[in-house]
Order: sequence, then structure tokens, then C-alpha cells
Amino acid sequence: MVGRDSELDVLADAFADACAETVRTVVISAEGGGGKSRLIREATERLGRQALVLSGWCVEQGEPGLPFAPFVSAVRRLVQLRGVAEIVTLVGHAGARELARLLPELGPAPSEGDPGMARSRLFESLRLLLERLAAQAPVVLALEDLHWADRATRDLLLYLARNLHGTRLLLIASYRTEALAEAHPLRGGFAELARIEGVTTLALPRLSRANVALHLTAMLGHEPAPDVVNGVHARGGGVPLFTEALVTPTGAVRPRLMGSLRDLLLGAVNELPERAREGLRAMAVGGFRVGHRLLVAVVGADGLDAALRAAIAAHVVIAADADGYAFRHALIQEAIRDELLPGERQRLHRAYAEALEADPSLGADAWVAASIALHWRAADDPARALNAAWRAAREATARLAYAEQLTMLEHALDLWPRVEPAQRPQGIDRAQLLEAAADAACWAVETERGQRIVEAGLAELDPATEGERIAALLLERAMMRQQGMHEGELGDLREALRLAPGSTRTRAAALGQICRALAQHGRADEIGALADELDELAMRLGEAEWTVEALVSGALARPVGDMAAMTRLERALGEAQAGASGRVEMIARVAMVDLLDARGEHAAAVEAASAAWQRARQLGQARYMGASVAQLLARALMAVGRWDDAIELMAEARELDPSPLGSTQLSQVSGLIAAGRGDLTPAERALKVLAGVEASPQDAPPRRSSCQWRSPCFRATWPPPSRPAFASARSGAGCRHGCSGR
Ligand SMILES: Nc1ncnc2c1ncn2[C@@H]1O[C@H](COP(=O)(O)OP(=O)(O)OP(=O)(O)O)[C@@H](O)[C@H]1O
Ligand SMILES: [Mg+2]
Repeated sequence: MVGRDSELDVLADAFADACAETVRTVVISAEGGGGKSRLIREATERLGRQALVLSGWCVEQGEPGLPFAPFVSAVRRLVQLRGVAEIVTLVGHAGARELARLLPELGPAPSEGDPGMARSRLFESLRLLLERLAAQAPVVLALEDLHWADRATRDLLLYLARNLHGTRLLLIASYRTEALAEAHPLRGGFAELARIEGVTTLALPRLSRANVALHLTAMLGHEPAPDVVNGVHARGGGVPLFTEALVTPTGAVRPRLMGSLRDLLLGAVNELPERAREGLRAMAVGGFRVGHRLLVAVVGADGLDAALRAAIAAHVVIAADADGYAFRHALIQEAIRDELLPGERQRLHRAYAEALEADPSLGADAWVAASIALHWRAADDPARALNAAWRAAREATARLAYAEQLTMLEHALDLWPRVEPAQRPQGIDRAQLLEAAADAACWAVETERGQRIVEAGLAELDPATEGERIAALLLERAMMRQQGMHEGELGDLREALRLAPGSTRTRAAALGQICRALAQHGRADEIGALADELDELAMRLGEAEWTVEALVSGALARPVGDMAAMTRLERALGEAQAGASGRVEMIARVAMVDLLDARGEHAAAVEAASAAWQRARQLGQARYMGASVAQLLARALMAVGRWDDAIELMAEARELDPSPLGSTQLSQVSGLIAAGRGDLTPAERALKVLAGVEASPQDAPPRRSSCQWRSPCFRATWPPPSRPAFASARSGAGCRHGCSGR
């Protein structure tokens, strides 16, 4: 079981109190599949033989529920464990006869008498039974799924919670939050229960992303890929049942919900009046969260408030903020959307697209253009969808939202052949869309998708007349090959240089990129001439961006100990900041951290790397540069003894779902941390991951990302030494790790 440590503590404390004869009740609430039963099972299993655990469940049988259902199953369990004779010994023949009202196995129940009196005799007999049992050993009575309980069960629970003082009894009750809608007859009962002395309520939160990752690891027997964790966490929202339902045994994310899960999610929806269901269908098309004004524009205001009130009362929807609504769970939205008929869905999408085009302020999302494009596309209006997607892609560039930009450009590329030339966005051709998409893919670290886009772009361009454009695409591909750890990075860069011989920006970009790639491949000796050429070209172009690139390349060509390298990088950083180019600023920052680290100036490296880490996020480059920066920062943190910070940082960086190169760099550092702490198992695991990487096809010689593992210094320290010995071996390794960035 993952997470839930504090909840287990609450239950353990409650049990300890109960053992001290202070009657305790813990009421656990969570949504369906939220982990109530699992928590109770874990907590009671931990008690082992210290307690007699009796569990009982309510059953869903429509109204009214089976009387006293959870008590019936709990007493039945007791009879199975101890036999009828023992019950008779504990409560006498008369008591057993009263309890026979619950359980016919105990003999004929008394038939005569006033029903009110009969009920109180039953309550009394059960109380006596629990008291006598608890005199032998502490008792835990777990009553589950009380949202389905009948009134009689509720009354008996309240009676026991009030009347069992001085008994070594822990009562645990559970119910589904969403099932206890406002009008539910038991709501008042739970409010009353919560006011009784000794009653604790425990609302289980959804599991965090980190815990979802642990849950998946436990299920699959291996660590899932970060995008699987992200997908499952986003859709399942950290509800354990959904986590389990959303992945296949092989670890893939299921695109559609399974039938039983859909029934669970739609149960409450189907009981709502038609107007509410209509509103929910419209909401489901609008998104997880929809603004009130937008919803009104789509479905009309008539009766909408009352309808939504009912949906809120049924826990299907929550009032998200002052002016909108959200589904209680993303999967409810998905389930409703899946049930729409094709015509219904298209009509609603069109209504959204028209409403948002007429008044973009209706969109709660800051990025309205993309919503409009998606709605037009789903409304099957390719021309409007194409134009909207192109507009959205341009907007995304300004927001540094590369993944969204890529999605929009891919939509535009898909729609392109379905739209007449006159209706397409004016002034662009398909190759330009592909070039923009390749660039977006590169920044978004979508290396596989990006390489396919580059291939398509290369097929559109004529090498005889469009060498520069081809070179630009090759630069994108080289970057993606680096990030994806595919072969051919240096080949692409050399070819780009050949195709862009003039004094152009493309050539400057190619020179800068090849210098950094050579440094990363451990071929610093080949940088000199290229860096000199870039220096001259930058002067001719007269633009700050290339000056910075030239300064960085020049620094990479120099030995670590050369003070001029540091001076150049300081200047580069200053100029990048003054020139407001985020791209070259990150290049300069990473090169700076790398150099500080290689020179053993670890405190300065920590400072520079922390700043770089923050800037990568601000500049929308967290996924692109995050892992490279984080591994540099972690190394620096380790070198100054801040191991816990380094571990925390590794977890944070993994959440960014880095590229294969970034992941390898993180595995490498995690391995170093584990080895440094003398923690052999994770260190060996990391070594295995890296051994797999080394076996994969690579440009020769090996990349920096794996070179440290091959270095004699590191090998010499395996198996890991004590921490100080390790730190000194590490700092003596003298192996400058790579700086990625284009
Ligand atoms: N903390 C956890 N770690 C790992 N798995 C969990 C955790 N909590 C729940 N699960 C698993 O998720 C699934 C749903 O959990 P559980 O049955 O406890 O939910 P519930 O709240 O009792 O649901 P219901 O409302 O349907 O009774 C189960 O397979 C359970 O084992
Ligand atoms: Mg349960």
C-alpha cells in the first residue's frame, strides 16, 4: 500500500486508546475506489493477533437496504470463528435469542412484543456481546460502505458509539463521500456521529503523483515510464481504483474506460433530471472545467441553475470557483462524453466554437485559440479548424508552450489536404508548417514525433535550391537525435554545415550546435577552428545571439584550467541576459555550471545551477533542459554534502518526463547518490540501466552522459566506498559532463 502513513497512524492511535478502554470510533470517508477498504485492511492486518477483528459490509440493494446488514455479516463472522455455543456463553440464552433477530443461525428469534422494546433489547444484546468479547481481547468492529446503510444500521452504530465506554473496542465506519448526497437520509446521522466524544473523522485525499508512481510500480513490478505516470495521474486523479483500471498488465495506458468503471462513474448521473443531464453532456464536451457564461451560451440559461444544483448535490459536479463548474472527477467527464451520439457531439462542439469565436472572454482557459481549433475540428469543419489551429500555434510560440504548439501544428498538417487552397491560412506552405512543427517538437522533447516531421519536411524541399531550409531541418533533427540518443547527430550537423555555406544565421546556428555536440562527445580538440569561424561570422552578423554562441564555443575549446574560458562564459551570460534571448542564456548558463563543476568550484556551481534550474522553468524549457540542468545541480549539491537536496531534486526532475538523454543523466546521478550512500541495490539498478544505454547504438566515441561510468576513477570506486572517500574520488574524476542545448 502506498501513502496513507498519517491515516494508519490515526488508526493505530485510536486502537491504542481503545485498548486503554476509551471507546473510539473512526469514520473514514473517500470517493468510490478511494482506498477505504484497503486502508482498513492494512490497519487491521498490522494489529495481527492483538485484536479480534470483525468486519461487516452494507450491500447495495436499492431502498431500503437490508436491515442491520453490516452487523449481520460481522456477527456471522464471529459465529464462524467461535461457534454458537460461545455466543450463548457470552450473552446467555436470552441474549442469543435477541441476536437471532440478526442471525437465524442463533435459533428462533422471539416473535412477540412491542417492536420498540424488541429493538432496544437487540441493541442491548449486541452491546453486551461486544463488551464481553472485548473483556477477553480488544475488538475492532469495521462497518463498511455505510452510504448504503438503512436507518436501523445507522441507529445501532450511533447507539454503540455512545454506549460502549470502558470497553476495549475500536469502531471503524466507512462511506463513499459522493454517495452521501445532500438529501441522503444518512447525512444527518453522520453529522451526529461526528459530534460524539471519541469519534474521529478521516477523509482520505487522492494520492499524489509520486504515490501514483509507487502504486504503478507495485502493480507492474517495474518502474513505469514518466508519461504513463503522468497520463494515469491526470486521468485517474490519484484515485487508487482508477489507477488500477487505467493501465493494462503490460503497463500501457488504456484509452477507454472499462464497462464496470463506467457504471460506477455514471450511476449518480443517470439518476438526475433530464435538464441536468443535458447540462452535463454539454459540460463534458466543454472540458473538465467550464465557465458559467460559456455553458449558458451553449445550452441556454433556462432552468440551468436548478439543474446544476442537482448535479452538485449528487456530487457529480463541484462549483469550481466563483464563475464555473468542474466535474468531481475527470473520468466522469470522460464517461459522459463517451456516451454521446456522434451528431450530438458535433452539434455541441460547433456551439462551443461559435460561442468562443464570438466572445473569447467566455473561455476560462488562457489559451482560447486552441480550444476553438479543437472544437471546430470535432465539429467536422476542417477549414475553420485549420485556420484556428495555425492561429493557436502562433499564439503558443509567444507563450513558450511548445507541446501545445506542436499539437496545433500537427492538427494543421492533418487538416491541410482536406482544405481548399483558397481557404488555407495565407502566406504559408506545407513545408513551413513542417519546419515550425519540427522546431516545436524539438523544444517539446518529442523526439520520435519530431524526427518523423523532419523526414516529411525533407521530402518537400529541393536540395538544389533550398539548401538553407534543409540545413535548418537537419539542425532540428540533430538536436532530437541527441535528446533521443539516436545515431547520426554529428552526421546531420556536418551535412547542415555543407548545405549552408554562406554567411547566414543558419550557418551560425550550425557552428554553435556542432561545437557543443563535439564537447559533449568528448572531442573538444575538434572545436577550435569551428569556434574561430563562428567568432568571425558572429561579428559579421552583428547580432547578440551569435556573439553569445561564439563566446560559449570558444570557452568549450579551452582547457578547464584556462581562466579565459571562465571570462568568456561570464561575458556570454551577461550578453545573453542583456539581449533577452532565453535560448542562448540557457546555453551560457549550462556551460558555466559545467565549467565550475569541472574546476571543483562546487559552491559556485550550486549557485549557478540553482539559477539555471529556475530559469529553465521560467523560459518554458523545463522539459527540454530540465534534466541536464538538474543533474548538474545534483552533482554540485552532492559535492557540498547536500545529499538530501540532491535526492529531492532528482525526484522533481523525473516528474518533467525528460528525454531519453535526460533520463539517462538522471539515472547516472541517482546511481552516484546511491553508491555514495553505500546503498547498493539502487546503485546496481542504475548501473544496469546505464549498461543497457551503453549497449545501444551510439555515435562513437561515447557520449558524456555515460562516460563517467566508464571512467577509470569511477570503476576504481566500485563497490562504493564510504561517503568522504567517494566524494574525493568523484571530484578527482575530472570528467566534464555534457551540456546539452542547441
Ligand atoms: N494506498 C493504496 N495503495 C495501493 N493500492 C491501493 C491503495 N488504496 C487502494 N488501493 C487499491 O485500489 C483499489 C480500490 O481501493 P478500495 O477497494 O480500498 O477502495 P474503496 O474506497 O474501499 O472503494 P469503494 O468505495 O468501492 O468501497 C483496490 O484494489 C485497492 O487495493
Ligand atoms: Mg470499499
